Amino acid sequence: MRTASESATLYLAYTVFGEFVKNSNMSQTKKSVLFICLGNICRSPIAEAVFRHILEEKGLLHEWEVDSAALGSWHVGGRPDRRATKILRNHDIDFSHRVRQITEDDFKHFDFIFGMDENNMRGLNDQKLPGSKSKLILLGSCDPQGERIIRDPYYDDNDAGFEKCYQQCVRSCTAFIESQL
Ligand code: 4NP
Repeated sequence: MRTASESATLYLAYTVFGEFVKNSNMSQTKKSVLFICLGNICRSPIAEAVFRHILEEKGLLHEWEVDSAALGSWHVGGRPDRRATKILRNHDIDFSHRVRQITEDDFKHFDFIFGMDENNMRGLNDQKLPGSKSKLILLGSCDPQGERIIRDPYYDDNDAGFEKCYQQCVRSCTAFIESQL
């Protein structure tokens, strides 16, 4: 039987250790991935939602931090394009997001940052500071069908380009996740 003072000491020790774990890298065992496109309203939100959905289906969502962001500032604070959320809904994926712009800290924080096309990759490489940890990857380079550039459907007047973008994201995200197992 513990005395009241022993119990209090144990409680204190657990609390201090818990705070130490929370504030140290010991709790940061998640892998992290950030999807980037120009506006963060079409391609990168679709990629983020697809990546989350695949992880959820595999029971692996708790092991990953997943986010998306824009290279440009035009749409910051807004919602993804309605056509993007419609395509996701067509595939039974619910997704909610607020547009944000990529920051210097993202290059220190995320393990992987994915761009959708060569312009995105140039933008990422231009912003990356020496010593940042993120690995920069063209998402389509993971596509087993070899389609390297994710379709940009922003200027389209129908849904076909969004469906194409969705299917490319499914193939590339699936292959990347499987490469990480
Ligand atoms: P996203 O599409 O980069 O896939 O989100 C675009 C969004 C906005 C613009 C271009 C592409 N824009 O020119 O505003």
